[in-house]
Order: sequence, then structure tokens, then C-alpha cells
Amino acid sequence: MSTTPLLTIDHVAKRFGAVTALADVSFDVLPGEVVALLGDNGAGKSTLIKIIAGTQPPSSGRLLWNGQEVTLAGPADAKALGIETVYQDLSLAPNVDVVGNFFMGRELTRRVAGISWLREKEMEEITRAALHRLGTKIPDVRAKVENLSGGQRQAIELCRFVHFGGKLVLLDEPFAALGVEQTRKGLDMIERVRREGISVIVITHNVLHALQVADRMVVIRQGRVEGVRTRAETSHDELIELITGDRSLTRRQDAA
Ligand SMILES: Nc1ncnc2c1ncn2[C@@H]1O[C@H](COP(=O)(O)OP(=O)(O)O)[C@@H](O)[C@H]1O
Ligand SMILES: [Mg+2]
Repeated sequence: MSTTPLLTIDHVAKRFGAVTALADVSFDVLPGEVVALLGDNGAGKSTLIKIIAGTQPPSSGRLLWNGQEVTLAGPADAKALGIETVYQDLSLAPNVDVVGNFFMGRELTRRVAGISWLREKEMEEITRAALHRLGTKIPDVRAKVENLSGGQRQAIELCRFVHFGGKLVLLDEPFAALGVEQTRKGLDMIERVRREGISVIVITHNVLHALQVADRMVVIRQGRVEGVRTRAETSHDELIELITGDRSLTRRQDAA
């Protein structure tokens, strides 16, 4: 039980003028752990994800990475640590093919007669292998990303993240726009990402999805942690109560 958390969120608060998006949030994410962030609209979930991704500074509180305090001045700082948000399409170039997106900014080249050549065959093989490893079936890695589904785009981003040594992936409502089958694949992918030893924070409205995929559920309500539960110690009904703040069903006494 002496595992150092990969990420510690320590009394983080965020205010936008008179609006308090996060009042006081603390919890840990362990290496290789999937944490579901649950909460009603406006609870502060996306704000917290943005702080962890380095796109917004907290108003107060600290982040620790492997036990060391870190200051994220921007998304590049988070990325350098191995923290990234995976979106459905925002970070892929639509008119570039799967391989091109996979290696974007990290292209493999070889110099021949003073000229730099892309190692296309090799990049193609690596892309195929990385997709296969996470169970993603994309028939043609030379297809332009604009012709792929939202779920497939998300899968490409996740595979790229895993391949290039990511440590903590942030998913903000990844299934919101997906159909039943794509959602099932997405949940399966999170499980495979975890098996690679990578940590995941996934925001979802769907308690059933959270229970299916997460080791622990952190419920945020009005900018505070309302409860932290392992999958084994909670239930659908209890999570709904924590999310809504309505304890009329079980009148459970929380130690927290
Ligand atoms: N950039 C911003 N400026 C002002 N208020 C914001 C901003 N971002 C979020 N908020 C407010 O902070 C609260 C939490 O928002 P958010 O983190 O998006 O919640 P959630 O993702 O849980 O729905 C909301 O009241 C929202 O209106
Ligand atoms: Mg949100």
C-alpha cells in the first residue's frame, strides 16, 4: 500500500470572478489506475481536467506528480510529463491520413545524399502494430482521418498516446457523441490502456460506464469531492445519490 500516487490533487480551487468552479478538491490517481470523475452539469469536472492538462492554472492548491510538486504553465508542460487530454477530433488533422496523424511532429526520416526522406513503410508498420495492440481495427491506415468515425479518431489518439510513452490520459465525456457499439469499443480500449500500466481519468455522466471501467469513482458536487468509492464498495444507487446530493434512498452516513 506504499505506492506513490502518480498524480495528487491537493486542495485545488478555481474561481472565475464571482463563480467558484472548484471550491476544494483533493484526491490521488495511482499508477495504472482508472478513475471515473462523476458529477452533475456544472460540478467542476471539466475545469479540473483543464487544470491537470495545464490549460488553466488553479486559483489555489497544488498538483504533485510522483510525489513532487509541479507547476504547469501550459499544456506543453503537462505533455512533457506524459499527461494528455484525448478529444474526439480536435487534435487530429482531418485531411491527413492515419499514419501521418500518428507520427505528426515525430516523423521518422532517413538522410540519403543530403536529402531527408520519410520512412513511410516503417511508420505504416508501427502505426498498424500500435492500433492492433489496443484492439483497434482500422482497415486502411492510409485513409484520411476525415473519413473515420469519432470513435476511430479517439482510438488513434489513444494509441498514439500509449505508443509515445504517455502516463496519464484525460478523457472528458469520451462517449457523449458515440453510439452503443462505439461506446463498447471505447470502454474496452480504456481497459486495454490500463493493462499497459497507464492511468486514466475519465469524465462521464453514465454511472454504468463508470462502474464498468473504473477502479475508483470520484464524485464532484458543486466544486467539492462528495465521495470517493472503489468499484467494489459502491453501487449504482449510491453513486446517483452522491451525484445529486439526494440521500433519501439509503440515508447512508458518510465517514467523509
Ligand atoms: N472560463 C470560465 N469562465 C467562467 N465560468 C466558468 C468557466 N469555465 C467554467 N465555468 C463555470 O464553472 C462551473 C464548473 O464548470 P465545468 O467545470 O465546465 O463543469 P462540468 O464539466 O462538471 O459540467 C460552472 O458553473 C461553469 O459555468
Ligand atoms: Mg464538462
